[in-house]
Amino acid sequence: MAAIEMNHIVKKYGDGFAAVNDVTIDVADGEFIILVGPSGCGKSTLLRMIVGLEDITSGDMVIGGERVNDKAPRDRDLAMVFQNYALYPHLTVYENIAFPLRLSKQFNGKEIDEKVRNASSTLELDEHLERKPANLSGGQRQRVAMGRAIVRDAKAFLFDEPLSNLDAKLRGQMRTEISRLQKKLGITTVYVTHDQTEAMTLGDRVAVLRRGIMEQLATPRELYENPVNLFVAGFIGSPPMNFLPATLEGDMVELPFGKVRIPADKAERAHGRGLLIAGVRPEHFEDASVMDADKVAEGSTFRATVDVTEWLGDQQYAYIPFEAPPEVQEQLTQLERDLDGESLRTQLVVSLDSASWIRDGEEIELYINAAKMHLFDPSTGENLTAAASGDEGAASRRSSTTRGEGDRVATDGASTSSPAGAHRGPGGATSAT
Ligand SMILES: Nc1ncnc2c1ncn2[C@@H]1O[C@H](COP(=O)(O)OP(=O)(O)OP(=O)(O)O)[C@@H](O)[C@H]1O
Ligand SMILES: [Mg+2]
Repeated sequence: MAAIEMNHIVKKYGDGFAAVNDVTIDVADGEFIILVGPSGCGKSTLLRMIVGLEDITSGDMVIGGERVNDKAPRDRDLAMVFQNYALYPHLTVYENIAFPLRLSKQFNGKEIDEKVRNASSTLELDEHLERKPANLSGGQRQRVAMGRAIVRDAKAFLFDEPLSNLDAKLRGQMRTEISRLQKKLGITTVYVTHDQTEAMTLGDRVAVLRRGIMEQLATPRELYENPVNLFVAGFIGSPPMNFLPATLEGDMVELPFGKVRIPADKAERAHGRGLLIAGVRPEHFEDASVMDADKVAEGSTFRATVDVTEWLGDQQYAYIPFEAPPEVQEQLTQLERDLDGESLRTQLVVSLDSASWIRDGEEIELYINAAKMHLFDPSTGENLTAAASGDEGAASRRSSTTRGEGDRVATDGASTSSPAGAHRGPGGATSAT
């Protein structure tokens, strides 16, 4: 096991295109890091540079304290699991797992047997050892591929979208298994995905990439609550954060639906910038009629006409169209393009208590928890209201050790985390394929 330090890593392909542009990430020994971002943002390229399958144009790749830029992949001692598991069809599960050990010629038959059986019991593959890959389910094949990685006692695991070939249910199960296995083995892991649900549930920390540039590196919670810009805010969360045109006067924010008060410190940080983009997550709205009157009185409410509702049993979504001025519209269209999404109509998506009886076409009194609102600069996308995070490294180390039992349960329980085929929003773009 080893720490992985990526220092100012750049990858330019032959045509001069910077697929990875000055990325710096310190992966602590035993840490689980996620690389996430839309298609083409450079995730696989970065991972392939760690393993040694791709030359590094500039910057230093340091694994276990040693610079490995010029080392061949086999000398880096890392185990990689790909999306297509690349198992040998003519070999049994046992021999597939044993393969890297036989290849290394470092072990005798008894040692190999011990390692293979150890891995197979960890992965619950004991009863399948004599079967051929073609006769296994997708999840079982994925576990064999992981078994092959485990037996090697590699310094780190590297995964490139290992679950994207599986159906949604199996993906959820395997996600939990990978999480459990990584904790049990305590092995440094870098995991590439474009599914933000995987990113949020698996990672100690998540690096969000856009067009080769790392936009933010933080714990899932920090990314969700304190995104540094519009891109991260729009990428993390499902359904995505709502973006609305806003103007600020004192500590009152004027939205298309009315005025709401935000905390004074937030207002102060966003002052004097003219037209802004307000970001409010769907769950920070509620149908005022199903809330305690006291709670409603603490926040702001406004009236709006609901276009469409979607009732899902445990919650429901309501859609409320609004008009946005061209400056805001342009930034949002660009954002949709960056996020790989279809162009969204400007509409509010709100998540309401399933007890709400609101129906399509009706007017509703909507509560908004304006204290949670973010304000973004429309020209740069910068989050003006993000709380200063201080020492990011220390903060995330703290939270990764205090990712308490609550979080553990959430990733272990099949029913608690959101479906693996999570969608970016009803009616919106899809992030997981
Ligand atoms: N061999 C290559 N030559 C030139 N450009 C390449 C090469 N491989 C990748 N690229 C470019 O580098 C960028 C990053 O590619 P990469 O495969 O790392 O993206 P990704 O984030 O893994 O995307 P996906 O989610 O689609 O797998 C893309 O714009 C891609 O077109
Ligand atoms: Mg890729």
